[in-house]
Amino acid sequence: MTTSHLAVITAGLTQPSSTRLLADRLTEAVVRSVRETNDSTDDVVVEVVEVRDVAHDLTNHVLTGFASPELQVRLDAIAEADAVIIVTPIYAASFSGLFKMLIDVLPADALRDTPVLLGATGGTSRHSLAIDHALRPLFAHLGALVAPVAVFAASVDWGSQDAGLLGDRITRAGRSFAGLITGASKVRASDPFDDVTPFAELLHGSSRA
Ligand SMILES: Cc1cc2nc3c(=O)[nH]c(=O)nc-3n(C[C@H](O)[C@H](O)[C@H](O)COP(=O)(O)O)c2cc1C
Repeated sequence: MTTSHLAVITAGLTQPSSTRLLADRLTEAVVRSVRETNDSTDDVVVEVVEVRDVAHDLTNHVLTGFASPELQVRLDAIAEADAVIIVTPIYAASFSGLFKMLIDVLPADALRDTPVLLGATGGTSRHSLAIDHALRPLFAHLGALVAPVAVFAASVDWGSQDAGLLGDRITRAGRSFAGLITGASKVRASDPFDDVTPFAELLHGSSRA
């Protein structure tokens, strides 16, 4: 059995936090998919880093260059993780300042060659491209292996009408990221023409009729 260490960075500021909710849902989807992959021989240990819990420590680190023990534990968990889920609220059409402070104090190369699944929450789906114009370049710069499927959840997505669609997007992202972590081969959508009756057989059938 292979055990992967998954760090989950969640940078919401409110309580309860929609960012935390998205992070939890993505984590569940990834863990479920990893366990389903490879006949359940793989497992995942999850470490959640709630950024607001170390907000003051982050400011002190930026000002002094030293991490408090509480912050250091979290930085180590991220640097030592085999894979990382990252979810930030969108502020002013980009990642939040507190989230960026955490990224700024990570050791150099902490995320290099590490699979990273991106998520973001926002008030409006018109800002969903912030994942592509702000988050992707940041993690490309850090040398992370950024998963192609990311999830943006706007306030409206949590409503009963659209919650199912958000659930589908979370499941898809989780499955795709689990494949990246475990090296599983691509799961292809089933082809509706895989199981057709050959034309000759159809003709044969009709001639009999
Ligand atoms: C200062 C500030 C700026 C924001 N800017 C944006 C924005 O540009 N685009 C957007 O879609 N939402 C914006 N929002 C809304 C938050 O992204 C949204 O409420 C988010 O889901 C909050 O996450 P939380 O519940 O985890 O704190 C902003 C919120 C605040 C407080």
